[in-house]
Amino acid sequence: MYLNNFHENNRMKWNIAAERWNSRDISGGWKNCHRDPTIAFHECELEFISSFVGDLTGKRVCVLGSGDNYTTFALAGMGAEVTSVDISEKQLEIAANRAKELDLKNITFVRADVSALPLESESYDFACSSGVVAIWISNLDKYYGEANRILKQGSYFMISETHPIRRILKQEQNDRLSVEYHYFNNGPHKYEYSLTDGKGIGVADEAVVQGNIQYEFTWRISDYVNSMINVGFQVQSLQETKSDHIDQWKEKGMEALPQALVLISKKL
Ligand SMILES: C[S@@+](CC[C@H](N)C(=O)[O-])C[C@H]1O[C@@H](n2cnc3c(N)ncnc32)[C@H](O)[C@@H]1O
Repeated sequence: MYLNNFHENNRMKWNIAAERWNSRDISGGWKNCHRDPTIAFHECELEFISSFVGDLTGKRVCVLGSGDNYTTFALAGMGAEVTSVDISEKQLEIAANRAKELDLKNITFVRADVSALPLESESYDFACSSGVVAIWISNLDKYYGEANRILKQGSYFMISETHPIRRILKQEQNDRLSVEYHYFNNGPHKYEYSLTDGKGIGVADEAVVQGNIQYEFTWRISDYVNSMINVGFQVQSLQETKSDHIDQWKEKGMEALPQALVLISKKL
């Protein structure tokens, strides 16, 4: 079922992290996403949905790497029949309990690796990743290839990821930026994961299955775009969103940089 040990390790990491993420959600945003999609989506993602995909009522939609499932709940609230896919059974368990509490019946939860989906080909009207998924994925072509396979011809795939330029920089204690990797180093970057903090421990050639280790991949803008093209998508639009705190850019260098990379593609 899993593509490789990098993904298996990341699954174990997300199982450990799930409860922590759950308990940190003190604002309870998940309770309102189905009524207010702006909690889950950036403005430009909602614009992409309305101008490319249109009304979602009754449409079959797949969320890949669904995590906290804010986007799943928002899409369900917009009338879609949603399939929520995640590799972590713990993340899905928390989300399924929340969906039950909200009485959201139009969601199916599926535990799977996004690079090997147990879903029928050409069966979805829209697919999206709910922010920050590609960093866990060792082969973008396999992931996007699966998104392409499950979509009906002429339908759309939207991704939203932390902007690649942010990924190579680190904000120091004094708020100055330092460079962690060069832009052309895709990783895998190996991290020791703990419930209090994470520590970078270098580049890995192969993954050893061990519960507290996670592997991250830093993809470039060209990787995202070329991978979409390689698997048969036609890129429709790409946006780089502004930081929510851009007014603080002089004090905090990171805020001067784009926040997310949002891209929408069409299956030819
Ligand atoms: C940061 S979250 C997704 C974003 C979401 N908005 C959130 O904040 O929770 C990343 C999710 O990707 C999932 N994931 C990581 N690797 C995966 C894989 N190979 N296949 C499917 N899901 C994966 C993790 O389990 C985690 O729930």
